[in-house]
Amino acid sequence: MKDHWNRAYASKEINDLGWYEKIPSPSLQLISKCDIDTNSPILDVGAGASTFIDSLVKKGYKNITAADISEEALHKLKERLGKEKTSLIRWIIDDVTEPKHLQKLKNIAVWHDRALLHFLVESTQQNTYLSTLNKVIKHGGYVIIAAFSLSGATKCCGLKVNRYNQNTLKDFLGEDFELLEYFDYLYHTPSGNTRPYIYTLFQKNRG
Ligand SMILES: C[S@@+](CC[C@H](N)C(=O)[O-])C[C@H]1O[C@@H](n2cnc3c(N)ncnc32)[C@H](O)[C@@H]1O
Repeated sequence: MKDHWNRAYASKEINDLGWYEKIPSPSLQLISKCDIDTNSPILDVGAGASTFIDSLVKKGYKNITAADISEEALHKLKERLGKEKTSLIRWIIDDVTEPKHLQKLKNIAVWHDRALLHFLVESTQQNTYLSTLNKVIKHGGYVIIAAFSLSGATKCCGLKVNRYNQNTLKDFLGEDFELLEYFDYLYHTPSGNTRPYIYTLFQKNRG
């Protein structure tokens, strides 16, 4: 998977990738609903070269972690951000299905995942994702997950995907998480196609 994603990022300009967003509006909409401050730890898992990181820096968040299986993706993101902003962020290269470094994080206030979970089609991968999430998120912390919706594509970037709606994501996270908000979102790819997503915001119980 690492090679697959490194090749995907090496083969195109970031702005031409089938998941590039100029402005990550739906994610920003959901993070604005979280009761956090600019020192709260935010983890973008499967961050890739996402402009979500640029937006968080611009909004003044100071405790951001960008994690991805692909060092090529994070390298491209660092290039775009430039040295000064890059130095403000914690960088983790790790596989969320076999985590070695992600597990060491703790008290994460916001777990953000746009378009990673749906690539985990094996239940063992999903279970590891969930146990990592549970390990690092703090009580009262928020989880933003955006995934292909039930009417969405069955493949992306040459890989099979698992599609979701708010109920299947709620079942996946389990009873410790309350669904605060959700909406359908039609993403337009740079090549002019559309990709229906489900966006969800959950909060972990306060313990
Ligand atoms: C479709 S891209 C989305 C990237 C970014 N979240 C965005 O919205 O632009 C999926 C991302 O998940 C990363 N990824 C895929 N499998 C992964 C895994 N097992 N562990 C960590 N990251 C993974 C890929 O490298 C890629 O950057």
